[in-house]
Amino acid sequence: MSPFQLTRTLPEDATEAALRADVLHGLTRMPKELPPKWFYDARGSDLFEEITRLPEYYPTRAEREILLARADGIAAATGARTLVELGSGSSEKTRHLLDALTELESYVPVDVSESALTGAAEALLAEHPELHVHALIADFTRGLALPGTPGPRLVAFLGGTIGNLLPGERAVFLRSVRSLLAPGDALLLGTDLVKDEAVLVAAYDDAAGVTAEFNRNVLAVINRELGADFPLEHFAHVALWNAEEEWIEMRLRAREALTVKIRELDLLVPFEAGEEIRTEVSAKFRQEGVRTELADAGLKLSEWWTDGEGRFALSLSTAV
Ligand code: SAH
Ligand code: AVI
Repeated sequence: MSPFQLTRTLPEDATEAALRADVLHGLTRMPKELPPKWFYDARGSDLFEEITRLPEYYPTRAEREILLARADGIAAATGARTLVELGSGSSEKTRHLLDALTELESYVPVDVSESALTGAAEALLAEHPELHVHALIADFTRGLALPGTPGPRLVAFLGGTIGNLLPGERAVFLRSVRSLLAPGDALLLGTDLVKDEAVLVAAYDDAAGVTAEFNRNVLAVINRELGADFPLEHFAHVALWNAEEEWIEMRLRAREALTVKIRELDLLVPFEAGEEIRTEVSAKFRQEGVRTELADAGLKLSEWWTDGEGRFALSLSTAV
């Protein structure tokens, strides 16, 4: 068998049906909202990679620092023979784990972005030709069926992507992750931490405008996939800190009143001047909150590591 296998768990038309349903639901409600998973077409995945290199966007560097310091310990604690990675993107940081996991046989990256998965697999196989890479194009919020690769399994969910789920979605998601874990398996979870508001807002409103372009990309996806006519530049990028919820919100604000036509949905969407679409939340965490959310899902936090500046945490947990 080829060392690289790409499996689509949903037919392509199911992805389109999901987009149609999300857009119809999200743009006909008040306030308007769109789920963040639709940012990530090939352009969106590239823009996210650009974001990870911005001076203001600290999470990637902070998590890499922790991974570099702890990868050997994670390998010793888990002895993983399969690494499953949810929302793996470019798998850039994952290479630090792959280098350390000496027992590893299979890597199962899971992502909605096909371009990210194929790009990542190509780069990884060049460095680890012995690895069996079984990539899954799948939505990790929709109940995952994993290939029958050998245990113990380490399930990694890096980057702080768990913060892009709302609290209720996180509870359902963590329980579904728990159901994937057999005795001896572990979850490695990256969580961005609550910190100074100015640092947080700058990370989501960079001077070069890359995050603004990433944010507007969801409109470009809807224009292309559903025949809509969103004029991208008529929507301003907004990033704000919601202190009560302890999350960053990204929004797109209509600079003036307009009506957008979405041909495939036979839908007209009116916007008042200043009206916003919430496109993403990015929750920031505290240790006790993470411990409690994990415990509520039947997971026991066993390790908690932060970077030197205490900006980001990696935790290791097992099923109770
Ligand atoms: N883990 C990487 C990438 C984070 S970006 C890192 O830490 O840098 C978030 C990734 O999750 C993107 O690649 C995006 O395509 C993927 N993603 C977002 N929502 C998803 C979903 N519901 N199901 C599967 N993948 C998803
Ligand atoms: C993928 N996720 C963790 C990123 C975040 O920081 O919430 C997505 C992102 N949005 C804007 N910049 C980066």
